[in-house]
Amino acid sequence: MRAPLVIGNWKMNGSLASNIELAKAVAASNLSDNVQVAVCPPMLHVSAVAEQIKGTKVGLGTQTLSEHDNGAYTGEISANMLTEMGVSYVLCGHSERRALFGETDKQVADKVKAALAAGLTPVLCVGETDAEREAGETLAVIERQIRAVLDLQDVFPATVVAYEPVWAIGTGKTATAEQAQAVHLFIRTLVGSETQILYGGSVKATNAGELFAMADIDGGLIGGAALDATSFAAICNAVR
Ligand code: PGA
Repeated sequence: MRAPLVIGNWKMNGSLASNIELAKAVAASNLSDNVQVAVCPPMLHVSAVAEQIKGTKVGLGTQTLSEHDNGAYTGEISANMLTEMGVSYVLCGHSERRALFGETDKQVADKVKAALAAGLTPVLCVGETDAEREAGETLAVIERQIRAVLDLQDVFPATVVAYEPVWAIGTGKTATAEQAQAVHLFIRTLVGSETQILYGGSVKATNAGELFAMADIDGGLIGGAALDATSFAAICNAVR
């Protein structure tokens, strides 16, 4: 059976002090035994956050990694460097990385491969833009993004998928539970029944329950609402 999972993506927000406080508050929250939880702080705050969540049920993730093992890649962080810091999850191909930093399907697949080789759990982010949805290309885009990793060995269920319609990220527009479920069901046909598939895009405490009640939505990837421990905990506890 697939365990429900909720991951907070803090993006490039907060200060060292405020993120320590946030981590402390998340760790002290009353979180349901049914849900797996992780937070992805800014890279420089990973060790400080790790200190705060040590020994609790809150796992540690990062927002990206390098696809390379080591070498002359100024500014990059390898998968092994992440495992050394106690990181378990790593987002691969978040839409902001694809759109703002030019990450390609091939590069995202290489990141998934590097993460798996180091024993990390990659969270492969996929999703269509507004224009792609309007053009009726949603499923074709999702399929292309997932096919890029399907050739890798043993990629699912070790990899988590996060379906995040780009038009719903940080916009306050959420896919309806039915719209999301339709895409999740399609993703399920590609990645199999054991793979956790998360929904992301303007998830809040007020809409999480409805989304998480859908048969193929196994939890969420939470941006803005993860910056407040109370709302993040409420979202975590909204899982089935
Ligand atoms: P949002 O972000 O919840 O603020 O829409 C989700 C994400 O980017 O992962």
